This record gives sequence, structure tokens and C-alpha cells, in this order.
Amino acid sequence: MRRPLVIGNWKMNGSRQDNKSLLEELVFLKPTNIQTELVICAPFLYIEQVSRHLVEQQISFGAQDMSVHLNGAYTGEISASMLIDLGCRYVIVGHSERRQYHGESNLLVAQKTLASLQAGLIPIICVGETLEQRESAGTLDVIADQLAAVKTVVGDSGISRSVIAYEPVWAIGTGLSATPDQAQDVHRFIRGQLGATGGNVRLLYGGSVKSDNAAGLFEQPDIDGALVGGASLVAREFIKIALAAA
Ligand code: 13P
Repeated sequence: MRRPLVIGNWKMNGSRQDNKSLLEELVFLKPTNIQTELVICAPFLYIEQVSRHLVEQQISFGAQDMSVHLNGAYTGEISASMLIDLGCRYVIVGHSERRQYHGESNLLVAQKTLASLQAGLIPIICVGETLEQRESAGTLDVIADQLAAVKTVVGDSGISRSVIAYEPVWAIGTGLSATPDQAQDVHRFIRGQLGATGGNVRLLYGGSVKSDNAAGLFEQPDIDGALVGGASLVAREFIKIALAAA
């Protein structure tokens, strides 16, 4: 049985004041013992603030990226052990915005996945195709390559300790979500690629998830939750999505 999982990716949004209001509202609105596991991935600078609000509230937290290096002369980078030090449980790796704007390759994403697992974090490995790739029928090849790179580096046992998020690039921040059937087709394919332990791995969908399209996505047999961007900045929306997954 895979526990539903809904993760908020705040991206580069927030301020101490806005975060305080959002976190207080989240804690207030979250039903006790909600069946869905909830996670907030905040900008690095705000992780400590998030932790102060969420410790003992049954909401985990994590980061949106991390360095592939353990420590040392890497100006501006944040290591996995620093995230552990702050109490993070999760880290997003290979988000399409990292791949697109920071040139992260499949190999680098795989190495970050390994470094996160070795530190004791749970990686949320993002995969997904661009509109151009979808229109040229390349979706499944792109995703197979992204997954294969990770699998080669971390093996089946590493995959079994990870979460995978399918985020079609054309659906991110566009208001244009994949339909439940489109998402399920790719999720089924991903699960098939994961090998023997794939049945236990939680597969999240991300890309314009809102409270009004969440239920249809979560009805699909291979969609175990969501990685939510914009809607995670509105407490009421985020909790509604979490309830739809339960
Ligand atoms: P939106 O929900 O804003 O489309 O963002 C999705 C996403 O990229 C989450 O990581």
C-alpha cells in the first residue's frame, strides 16, 4: 500500500512575513491524522523558519535542490548534510527548471540522487518531456533516458528509496495540466521501467495541479500524489489537494 503524498514546491517565492501566514494557516487547516503525507519544499533560506512551524505538526519539509558535492570550496552551494542538519527529510532533484536554466544533465541528476540517498534524504526525482518532445512522440524515450541514468547510478535499491515525480514541462505553471489519462499513461510506463521494486515507489504528478483537477488525477491507479507549485502557496488550495489524495 503506497501512502498518498502531496508536496508543495514553493519555488523562488515567499518572504518571512508571507511564509509565517501561510504556515500558520496550513497548520490550522490541516486535519489531524490526515492520511496523506504532506511535505513543504521551501527556498534554502527559509527552511529553518519552515521547520520551526512544522516540527510536530505531521508535515515534513525539504529542499528544492542540493549540491552534488559533500562539502568544500563550492561557493553558493548547499550540501545534503546541511539539509539533514536542518531536519529536512526530502530533497527535489532534477526539477525541469534546474535542467533548463542551470544545464543539469541526466548524469548530474543521477549523482545528486546518489548523494542525497547516501546522506539519508529521500530524493524526489523529477522527469518529464517538453512540448516539442511530446509533439514528436518522444515522451517515453525522454523519460526512459532520464530514469535509466538514475537507475544506473543508484540501482534498484536506490530507486526503491526514492519518490519519482512526472512533471511534463509544458504543464508547469501554464495552467495546462495533463489529462488524467495522459498522466496515467506515463505513470504506468514509469512504473514498468522501475523494475522489481517499482510497485512500492510513490509516483507523483506535477504540472498545474489545483484543487479542481486533483481528484481526477488521483483516481488513476499509478498516480500516488502530486508535486504542487503555484497552488501550494495558497494554504486552502494545498490542503484541498491533500484531502483529494487521501
Ligand atoms: P505548477 O503547479 O505551478 O504548475 O508547478 C509545478 C511544479 O513545477 C512543481 O514542482
